[in-house]
Amino acid sequence: MSLPKLFVFHLMLMLSAFFGTADGFYYYFKSDCIYSTKDYSDMVLLHSYSFNKNVDVQYNSTLGKFVGFSEEGVKWADYWNKDKAIMQKLKAAVDIFCRYNAQLYDSTITDKSVKPKVMLSSVKQASGRHPAMLLCSAYNFYPEKIKVYWMRDGKVVTSDVTSTMEMADGDWYYQIHSELEYTPKSGEKISCVVEHASSTQPMVYEWDPSMSESDRNKIAIGASGLVLGIILAAAGLIYYKKKSAGRILVPN
Ligand SMILES: *[C@@H]1O[C@H](CO)[C@@H](O)[C@H](O)[C@H]1NC(C)=O
Repeated sequence: MSLPKLFVFHLMLMLSAFFGTADGFYYYFKSDCIYSTKDYSDMVLLHSYSFNKNVDVQYNSTLGKFVGFSEEGVKWADYWNKDKAIMQKLKAAVDIFCRYNAQLYDSTITDKSVKPKVMLSSVKQASGRHPAMLLCSAYNFYPEKIKVYWMRDGKVVTSDVTSTMEMADGDWYYQIHSELEYTPKSGEKISCVVEHASSTQPMVYEWDPSMSESDRNKIAIGASGLVLGIILAAAGLIYYKKKSAGRILVPN
């Protein structure tokens, strides 16, 4: 098992304890790794020094330098920004601390992830001036973070979409629902797309307007009945032929 990398980066001596009369004071530094893409391309490292609730000085890897937010902070920022060794260490930390750990943490989630069961159904048919409505529901997935959106003729639909939040089922699984209101056009392609940690590829579910779910179920039941009937009829016929053939071979 790989262990996460620690990033301990002392720039300031923070040994002094600050104690007021009533409450204590709080001086601290922290490192944030912030990202939202799967390939960590948008990874940002923030390394901040704060007093109580105020950030004094902060390194932002997008800017590639420190910015001071207080009189003291500005002085420190000026001082550290000139130090090539410090700057290089912080620049490298985006990879060896942030990206490295993010990959590690994500991989422990990924092997526990559970793929959502997605159902695409028609809620309302278009009638008169009222648009039709489709419902895309994803059930029983883990972890919570998921993206559900609609595509119409290759473009992401941004309007007339209503989505719920991820809802906890209470058993570690989640569900989410998204509705699309639309005026049907012939020959168009509508699909519901689901992005989740359980799949490296976006999962695309295309809407087949020719048949609704219940129609499809009826056809499936009918077809199964037909197949069963044919099998029974064939079996009966073979049985009958064998019996009658036997009778001919043994004449009374
Ligand atoms: C870091 O810098 C970028 C680029 O200027 C900026 O967009 C972003 O908001 C900054 N982050 C914070 C937390 O200040």
